[in-house]
Amino acid sequence: MRILLSKEDMKTCDQNTIEGFGVPSCVLMERAALACVDELYRSGAALDRVLVICGSGNNGGDGFAIARLLFLDQVPVSIWFVGKEQSCTDQTRHQKEICEKYGITFCSNPEINEYTVIVDALFGIGLSRDIEGSYRDAIGRINESPAFVLSVDIPSGIDGNTGVIRGIAVKADLTVTFAFEQPGHYIGKGRACTKEVRVRQIGITKESLPKCRKSYVCYDSMDLRRLPERLATENKGSCGKVLLIAGSRDMCGAAILSARAAYRSGAGYVRIYTDEHNQSALFQSIPEAVVSCIHSNWKRELENLLAWADVVAVGPGIGMEAQKLDILNYVLEHADIPVILDADALNLVARHNLSLDGYSMPVAVTPHLGEMARLCRSTISDISEDLIASAEIFAKEQHVICVLKDAGTVVSNGSESYINTSGNSGMATAGSGDVLTGVFAGLTAQGMTLFEAAKLAVFLHGCAGDAAAQKYGKRSMTANDLVEGLIRVLADADD
Ligand code: ACO
Repeated sequence: MRILLSKEDMKTCDQNTIEGFGVPSCVLMERAALACVDELYRSGAALDRVLVICGSGNNGGDGFAIARLLFLDQVPVSIWFVGKEQSCTDQTRHQKEICEKYGITFCSNPEINEYTVIVDALFGIGLSRDIEGSYRDAIGRINESPAFVLSVDIPSGIDGNTGVIRGIAVKADLTVTFAFEQPGHYIGKGRACTKEVRVRQIGITKESLPKCRKSYVCYDSMDLRRLPERLATENKGSCGKVLLIAGSRDMCGAAILSARAAYRSGAGYVRIYTDEHNQSALFQSIPEAVVSCIHSNWKRELENLLAWADVVAVGPGIGMEAQKLDILNYVLEHADIPVILDADALNLVARHNLSLDGYSMPVAVTPHLGEMARLCRSTISDISEDLIASAEIFAKEQHVICVLKDAGTVVSNGSESYINTSGNSGMATAGSGDVLTGVFAGLTAQGMTLFEAAKLAVFLHGCAGDAAAQKYGKRSMTANDLVEGLIRVLADADD
């Protein structure tokens, strides 16, 4: 598990290291520069001509130090200072003067296509407003260049807290950040601009962590140890029973994908409650699932199913007709097991203005941005402005676990938030969310709390996507390949 810090807390961490522990700021800057140069060498980028673009804040100071280190290594390097002399911090002015004394080339209007590597040291976590004027022009030119781009700390233009682009942002090939990542590296547009992140230690330790107003967690492969234990004495009944209310006349596939994913994540039993038109397709494609069909006397049957299950997931492909609304209301009013609401269940909640607050069982919702906008009576662009706040506020107001699905999914219980770093763009394919619901339900059935299961399911789902992308490529992979990826990831975790 790693901790991510807001930009404000990261800044305080920097200051605490400098003032509280007496580590000189120039030492931190030097170590940051050394780490960037090291990453540049490791990247394999052709260092034929390097351009370091510096702003006047301390991010620019890092840039000047990088230029000096490259120069002393005989790398052909030039500096483009886009900042303003009078705005330079003391550190940055000092670093700039050293570069001037060494006689490193400064250029004011570089022919950007001539460089093989660009180091973006315009803005780091200090970005506080939209980018305009000469800064905007510089970033536009960086993005047009064929050079390998390394961003120092965070791509200039990305807000460290929200991942939002402030006017324009650098599209990096590699981002080197220090001590703790920020949410903006992984959520919103920040994820694509950051591309690959390397976290380097420069002497800022956990001891400098302020009493954070905000910190977030993300998982890495070590967190697969959180998977529910599977004892030698286990039987199918003890491995968790999932009830999936999924599929409709035209949408059987959603039920198949969710059920497969629930089984593949370790659930002992999966029962699908669905439209009777789906029965034979389900029997053929997933013979291990038990299928119950929705009949006119559905209440009695649903009561029994809810009594049998350890978790119920409602929504994948169910459609929006009146009977489905009745079933959803029945589940909310009668279930005393964890409830997961996805897809059309969320659209029904939004359309009929149902409240999720006030139920005694734990409830989770798994909206994508469009569903979230409908749930919050908002717009996708408003939700995207601050994904973490959107998830946190909804979770708090409705007393639910909110899994806000996006390239960098956010999971919140209203007070703590998890930010997902696994996965890739190939997962933007129909049925991907159905697989997540299956994994989420499967883990919950095995005894994890809804919040713990939600975080691990999202991480696992992303890992499955990465495994699928390795085999099929991002462009070609389908939701079914995610289930195959899941098998590979879990098999490796068992070893
Ligand atoms: N347009 C123009 N100017 C802007 C814009 C904008 N859109 N947004 C912000 N600015 C200005 C700000 O006003 C700010 O200037 P100010 O401090 O005079 O108000 C400046 O740009 C912020 O620039 P940054 O370089 O992003 O921020 P900061 O100076 O806080 O440095 C830091 C960030 C610490 C260097 C971080 O990004 C980093 O890389 N850390 C690596 C570790 C490191 O080097 N630590 C030691 C640094 S030395 C020290 O902290 C004293």
